[in-house]
Amino acid sequence: MRHLIDITDLTVSEIDGLLEVADDIQKRPDAYFGLCRQKKLATLFFEPSTRTRLSFEAAMLELGGQVLGFASADSSSAAKGESVTDTVRTVGCYADIIAMRHPKEGAPMAAARKSFVPVINAGDGGHNHPTQTLTDLLTIRLEKGRLESLTVGLCGDLKFGRTVHSLLTALSRYAGVSFVLISPHELQVPDPIKRALTEKGVPYREVETMEDVLPELDILYMTRVQKERFFNEADYVRLKDSYILTPEKLTLARPDMAIMHPLPRVNEISHRVDDDPRACYFKQVRNGKFVRMALILKLLEVKGP
Ligand code: NCD
Repeated sequence: MRHLIDITDLTVSEIDGLLEVADDIQKRPDAYFGLCRQKKLATLFFEPSTRTRLSFEAAMLELGGQVLGFASADSSSAAKGESVTDTVRTVGCYADIIAMRHPKEGAPMAAARKSFVPVINAGDGGHNHPTQTLTDLLTIRLEKGRLESLTVGLCGDLKFGRTVHSLLTALSRYAGVSFVLISPHELQVPDPIKRALTEKGVPYREVETMEDVLPELDILYMTRVQKERFFNEADYVRLKDSYILTPEKLTLARPDMAIMHPLPRVNEISHRVDDDPRACYFKQVRNGKFVRMALILKLLEVKGP
């Protein structure tokens, strides 16, 4: 039985295969309808979510399966002190596959070890978010036609942004990718991730100003400052508006630079950017459902059409 806890649980060729399937689903969704008839997905969300939970549910419904679950910790027995391992063992009696989001780093991994059914990490604290990465990779492939030889700027909260961590790990496995890490000093990428980049010989540099590096980027991946991970409200208030992307700043960028964001956006991309043809964040939302359909099929070992 396979789980998806960390993006490295998938080989590069498995990732490429999932993106192929997701692309095919997008082109001919009807061929996939009904493949998960009589299967159930449980979404166990101990933390808020809009896109991730609903795209998982939409994905299963589009495959002809059914969904059950909860959208907050206080509506489950976690509020009574139940452990995640007992919760997944229980839910495994009712569902064939579980997508779990949890504020504690490592909770989905601990759950997977005891689970009777595949567990997908739908975001664990400030750690990882592998299915957002599949969404991001599909978007990059569709926009740029490749995952190799790209200069990728990541901007904002690179310390607590779990989508950033998984995306850095994933893209560092493709040849010729280099990173420009744009953040305030306090919100830099954690050292273990930087060490892994260095060990693999992946070029990266850290800067504090977005404008200086915009002209060289193929992709700009904006992120929200992760308020819920701060110990101190004053630090959040000081850092939250460190970067705001505007049409004026975008005059510095290449005409084909893809602007990405996992969403939700707070202030970091002006709404005036939304009509720019380079804005891809709502395309990411759409792609999220297709990659999750492909992932559910893979983990449930359901043959394609
Ligand atoms: C992200 C998350 O939950 O980490 N959202 C998402 O899943 N699309 C990003 C965020 O919350 O800032």
